[in-house]
Amino acid sequence: DGGRPVLVLTRRLPDAVEQRAARDYVVRANPEDRPLSPADLAERAQGAVAVLCAACDRMDAAAIAALPGSVRILATFSVGTDHIDLAAAAARGLIVANTPGVLTDATADIALLLMLGAARRASEGERMVRDGAWTGWTPTQLLGTHLGGKRLGILGMGRIGQAVARRARAFGMTIHYSNRRRLPPDQEDGAVFHADPEELLPVSDFLSLHFPATAETRHWLNAERIARLPRGAILVNTARGTVVDDRAVIAALRSGQLAAAGLDVFEGEPDLHPDYRGVSNAVLLPHLGSATVETRNAMGFKALDNIDALVAGREPPDRVV
Ligand code: DGY
Repeated sequence: DGGRPVLVLTRRLPDAVEQRAARDYVVRANPEDRPLSPADLAERAQGAVAVLCAACDRMDAAAIAALPGSVRILATFSVGTDHIDLAAAAARGLIVANTPGVLTDATADIALLLMLGAARRASEGERMVRDGAWTGWTPTQLLGTHLGGKRLGILGMGRIGQAVARRARAFGMTIHYSNRRRLPPDQEDGAVFHADPEELLPVSDFLSLHFPATAETRHWLNAERIARLPRGAILVNTARGTVVDDRAVIAALRSGQLAAAGLDVFEGEPDLHPDYRGVSNAVLLPHLGSATVETRNAMGFKALDNIDALVAGREPPDRVV
């Protein structure tokens, strides 16, 4: 193989991405797309320079420690890095790179889909149609609420938060946000900044979460904070399931403190708190934020760009540690 470097793919990737990988690397692929144990991965990675993993792979300290010394870069097919023990990677001198930017629009689109779906009771309506329970149009059936004229609280005003704000403005929403840093005035575009995230809660008719999952943000949205939202608020989570306390969200959906929720991510996914299945006012999606052909191709190409850079002796452009 002319000394081409070895690249391990932990999961099946879009065809265009696998084809480009095969052009430049000796690829150890996973055509069956089965989750690899740390031991399986370590074995496949013998002599490899790079591992391309995804958000569904748990790259904890043990999995990282098991990787052979030949592996110099872990390129994740995700913008989130909460599945990777970054400290363990740094301690071992393993470079980690992610895929920022290319999934911003796809994820913001899903946030709007969930906002609309939750506000307009799309899941309840769809179930009614599928179950044969629809007996006809009536003046009072499945009434929802407008986005227009409502206040959207965006918690975490990075790339995705800003893309959600742009879309929500087109629906006539007023934007409030909280972020570690205030945006420069020319980027704020009328959005109202709240330095304290606690102050965002009482003005959020809709609340959309766009901050990373860390030890500090675990279960950030708990019962106490949900109680500070206006009664009948709508929650949207396209970030990570661990940033909300599921029991508190479910209780609030049942009590009406939350009128509805749109959730694309769950703690412990693909498992989810079993009570979610019984709450009709939640729109539940299986982590589809970045799931478009265009975005998944771009994510794969970006991951390969980072590996190419490392192999060429350059700094990977999206290096995290
Ligand atoms: C991400 O990129 O972090 C998405 O959650 C998909 O992996």
